[in-house]
Amino acid sequence: MDERAAVMPVNVLEYEAAARAVVPQGLFEFIAGGAEDEVSLRENRAAFGRWRLVPRVMRGVVEPSTATTVLGQPVRLPVLVSPMGLHRLAHPEAECATAAAAKEAGTIFCLSCAASCAIEEVAARAGAWWFQIYLMDDRGLTLELVRRAEAAGAAAISLTVDVPVRGRREADERNRFALPPGTTMPNLLSRVGEADAGNYFALAKWDAAITWADLAWLTASTQLPVVVKGVLAPEDARMAVEHGAMAIQVSNHGGRQLDSAVGALDALPAVVEAVGGDAEVVLDGGVRRGTDVLKALALGARAVLIGRPVLYGLAAAGEEGVARVFDLLRQELVTDMILCGLADVREVPRSLVVPASDHFG
Ligand code: FNR
Repeated sequence: MDERAAVMPVNVLEYEAAARAVVPQGLFEFIAGGAEDEVSLRENRAAFGRWRLVPRVMRGVVEPSTATTVLGQPVRLPVLVSPMGLHRLAHPEAECATAAAAKEAGTIFCLSCAASCAIEEVAARAGAWWFQIYLMDDRGLTLELVRRAEAAGAAAISLTVDVPVRGRREADERNRFALPPGTTMPNLLSRVGEADAGNYFALAKWDAAITWADLAWLTASTQLPVVVKGVLAPEDARMAVEHGAMAIQVSNHGGRQLDSAVGALDALPAVVEAVGGDAEVVLDGGVRRGTDVLKALALGARAVLIGRPVLYGLAAAGEEGVARVFDLLRQELVTDMILCGLADVREVPRSLVVPASDHFG
């Protein structure tokens, strides 16, 4: 084992090395990788580097509050878990462990329909949780999943709209990545039957013909608020609002779909402006630091979501590893808020951030 991995990571970024040390290479690259040249994957991180903070001093902030609400749901940290399939690939306790760690952290867990645990099993371990779906060509099955999530207590339905086809992830092709035998997606069994359940690629046949009319159908079909995940264009954010979305998740799917798509943080300001307060705006993609959280909030996000760091923490140390990822982010956020003179995470002013280029000429 890599010697460094034996040392407790001191920040969220270091969990990547800790996970790499314990999972097979092909699986690590499946999680870590992006599409084609991975431009969008890198842009997600680079976008945070394009902003600088202008802290305020002498404000007597001792114990800043990191609590807010997302879609009316109280959270103790404005960092949620972004939906990802098959947590069991990272750890045998899978989504049950991640959901429990998110509950402990006082935040929302978004469960993917491609999860390795049944909806009801995760619901029993989770605090507040959302359920993420793709639109399937079988609308009956789509609705069946929504009804199960409603019955199990989901607080929102998240519709992922940036996967009409799967992005070209070349590392997976190079590695001939296949799911380990016995891998299942229990929530999708009625679609594929037990025999195919381990075949991620056979399962990923979502309806490519998805349009805004389908969002209107979904929002009319459920009482739960609908989050639209995977929006980058301000015009699409507007369309989402007009078709009933209560929240917009700005995201390029962690650089796993359209390569060269704009970095999530770069897309955020225009989306926030277009939405104009008619829906909440959240963001995922490349959030790894407390200062990243503050930058996104200053640019108008209500909260952010993290993806890969959750799986890295889970792979490295199960539920405890995920809990530590959230602890690290909380500690950083608290320190950063004190250093910025910010008492309340709900009141991060736009003036906290300036473009790096302006600041340095
Ligand atoms: C994902 N993502 C994802 N999104 C989604 O809507 N449904 C899903 O089932 C999955 N599955 C999935 C698996 C894996 C292994 C990864 C890494 C990602 C995308 C995810 O929600 C998020 O958009 C990205 O991971 C971006 O955030 P990070 O990883 O940069 O924090």
